[in-house]
Amino acid sequence: MKTYQIVVLPGDGIGPEIVEAALEVLEKVQELSGKFHLDYQFHKAGAAYYRESGKAISKKTLAAMDKADATLKGPVGLPNVRKPDGTEAGILGGVLRIGFDLYANVRPIRLFPNVSSPLANKKPDDIDYILLRENTQGLYLSRGVGLVTDEAATDTLLMTRKGCERIARLAFQLSIQKERGAPQDGKKRVTLVDKSNVLRSFAFFRKIFLGVAQENPEVEAECLYVDAAAAALINRPGHFQVIVTENMFGDILSDLAGATVGGLGMCPGANIGDHLAYFEPIHGSAPDIAGKNLANPLSQIRSGAMMLDYLGEKKAARALEKAIWQSLLKKRIKLTTSGTALDGPKKVVEVLRKELK
Ligand code: IPM
Ligand code: MN
Repeated sequence: MKTYQIVVLPGDGIGPEIVEAALEVLEKVQELSGKFHLDYQFHKAGAAYYRESGKAISKKTLAAMDKADATLKGPVGLPNVRKPDGTEAGILGGVLRIGFDLYANVRPIRLFPNVSSPLANKKPDDIDYILLRENTQGLYLSRGVGLVTDEAATDTLLMTRKGCERIARLAFQLSIQKERGAPQDGKKRVTLVDKSNVLRSFAFFRKIFLGVAQENPEVEAECLYVDAAAAALINRPGHFQVIVTENMFGDILSDLAGATVGGLGMCPGANIGDHLAYFEPIHGSAPDIAGKNLANPLSQIRSGAMMLDYLGEKKAARALEKAIWQSLLKKRIKLTTSGTALDGPKKVVEVLRKELK
């Protein structure tokens, strides 16, 4: 029996309830597999923790994450917990992603059965691509360090050769690894989304991307401006297999993409570096619906599946994704049109545990 050390950060708002749901489902997955055990260490971090301690996360927690095999993180942030400069306090994106150099934010966008897409005539799996967001450079590297005077403010978008190369390489790797090509034509395809017609930093990124593309002739490579990409994700989402883009563009487009597959409550994410990774939903902490038995825990549960995949428990990860697919197909898990869980997260857990028998 293999044991994995897992740090758990329940987070804020709906975080604790969806993380609890994920752990209950993961318990069943472990039972079923019989081959591995997840050993949890719970830590407080986020906006509520900031309010009590003046820090979003402690050194002790960071050290625990550094030592662990992986971290499962709930959403964090509370709208009224702010820093003096007006930005949100207690959000961990910068400290974890940049701090641990977790350059790859892998966000799978897939339409499951009986999940209502706002796009007309979409069948399950008509939308099935990976949105790969660069996590450690781009405009958000400027978080907290932009210059502000009474009259003006500036943030800087940084692109490095190393940063562009490694994210481009990973995009092609993911394309090759992903069993399925683009839903529309079955092709392995990586799309770079940029704004190289306007900004030199993006022209730099594009040049590096096209160089890496030449090393991967079996994958089709294409480039799209971000404004056109926003339209294409609505008009022809089936065209995409892997999309790679800059940090802020990836942040914005992943919410747009999430909306096309039934909302962010469906969408998991992985933040991966060369030695460390953490897994979290792509959405925020939704404090307005916290504790109301409404939250859709599937984003968090699927983040757990991504974590199993990362740990090498591929079979268990696939079984969990399949159980979610089947439960939605059989309408045992029901979602509202706004993407919340009709019978609440506890019911989702009950259904999935049965499906996993
Ligand atoms: C995300 C979130 C974070 C980000 C926020 C909460 C800082 O929106 O993971 O997409 O912008 O990266
Ligand atoms: Mn976001």
